[in-house]
Amino acid sequence: MRIDVVSIFPDYLAALDLSLVGKARRSGLLDLRVHDLRDWTADRHRTVDDTPFGGGAGMVMRPDVWGAAIDSVLGDDPEGHLVIPTPSGEVFTQRHAEAFATETHLVVACGRYEGIDARVAERYRAAGRRVSELSIGDYVLNGGEVAALVMVEAVGRLLPGVVGNPESLVEESHGAAGLLEYPVYTKPPAWEGLEIPEVLLSGHHAKIDRWRRDRALERTAARRPDMVAALDVAGLDKHDLRL
Ligand code: ADE
Repeated sequence: MRIDVVSIFPDYLAALDLSLVGKARRSGLLDLRVHDLRDWTADRHRTVDDTPFGGGAGMVMRPDVWGAAIDSVLGDDPEGHLVIPTPSGEVFTQRHAEAFATETHLVVACGRYEGIDARVAERYRAAGRRVSELSIGDYVLNGGEVAALVMVEAVGRLLPGVVGNPESLVEESHGAAGLLEYPVYTKPPAWEGLEIPEVLLSGHHAKIDRWRRDRALERTAARRPDMVAALDVAGLDKHDLRL
């Protein structure tokens, strides 16, 4: 899979050289290219922004600079998908990450200031290109770079071969079960007077599975009632319903 990230702060994306995503890049599973938006400016000052029409605070990123950058990295690849991180977007979830991980080419356009001139998304949509404006949560960052890091990591770890043991992707929070993950423990079995739940030492796999599912249900109900409300009742068993 290829991902192009365009930003005025390409150094922000240096963290993508580390850890699993860095390894995926080096092994060729992920072709990640980071670009400096200013390479597509045409003036001596390498200007990327200007004042907003209609007035108001802050600056808006110019559509001509972004258009040149996106034309260059998106090219005429019909599979290319333009992703614009923005606090005014639809919320990015594990479902987006899963869908993106099946794609061949994403272009992530990181805005700064008050955002990118709205005609950029409009133009690529009108041209029949896929465009997603996505927020990573209900708070405002200074730009799209941190959101791009989040999205690339969430997508990158789902690419086949990136996570060593694919089973570790099965029981995660936000996975197929629609629940948060159960609490996990490792050695030592007693620490600061706290012992691990005895069932985890029992070797009784059915009991452990039941205990984990109960804890996942409890935790989800306490922390994310919205996720419990969205559960498919047909997928619950009679033990689940006791809780
Ligand atoms: N840019 C600024 N805030 C953002 C957010 N919450 N999500 C995505 N992009 C952003």
